[in-house]
Amino acid sequence: MSNRPFVIDFLHAGGIHLSQYDHHIVRKLSSLRGQFLDQEIYEAMLRAQDPILYEVYEVKGAEVAGELIHGITIIHPGKVGTEYFMTKGHYHLLLDTAEVYYCLQGQGSMVMETPEGDWAVEPLRPQSTLYVPPRWAHRTVNTSPSEDLVIFFVYPGNAGHDYGTIEKQGYRKLVVERDGKPEIIDNLRWLPPEKR
Ligand code: PA5
Ligand code: NI
Repeated sequence: MSNRPFVIDFLHAGGIHLSQYDHHIVRKLSSLRGQFLDQEIYEAMLRAQDPILYEVYEVKGAEVAGELIHGITIIHPGKVGTEYFMTKGHYHLLLDTAEVYYCLQGQGSMVMETPEGDWAVEPLRPQSTLYVPPRWAHRTVNTSPSEDLVIFFVYPGNAGHDYGTIEKQGYRKLVVERDGKPEIIDNLRWLPPEKR
């Protein structure tokens, strides 16, 4: 992307799109192996098809301090068993870096935790912003039965992504559907830091 000032439009034709971006990342069900609660249903779904769970459109300059990476993530509606479609989630490699999200469309939750095991689950609804402080891992969950969840994000260019820590045991909390509504439950695979 240019080092001159520039403007990007949000286009509302058949869903929200950016008028310009550098990368389009597509994550399918197969890229979240081991992350969903019901592994049997996960494997059965995957044998039938490998649906797209979410897409990221990134506007990205150099990955250095002082730069800001921004863009939109679109999480499609759906579930694996009772568990809603969600992002892989990550810590920032440079742990002391924050991120801001602005919800453009849909309904969802941001599931967060710290290396010490503190946790938070906050709602994402249109026109709300969500601040993820430094040191908090973050995962986005689409809790709508039918609508895409579309969020704008911005984070430091040198933050990087650490996926491995979360891949090992998942997040402390999961968001599932109970009686037609989202509910937060414990992840039985999760271990406190002193037991890892
Ligand atoms: O940096 C972020 O937190 C977002 O841009 C995410 O990368 C995006 O929402 C996709 O999630 P993940 O990187 O966990 O696959
Ligand atoms: Ni991030």
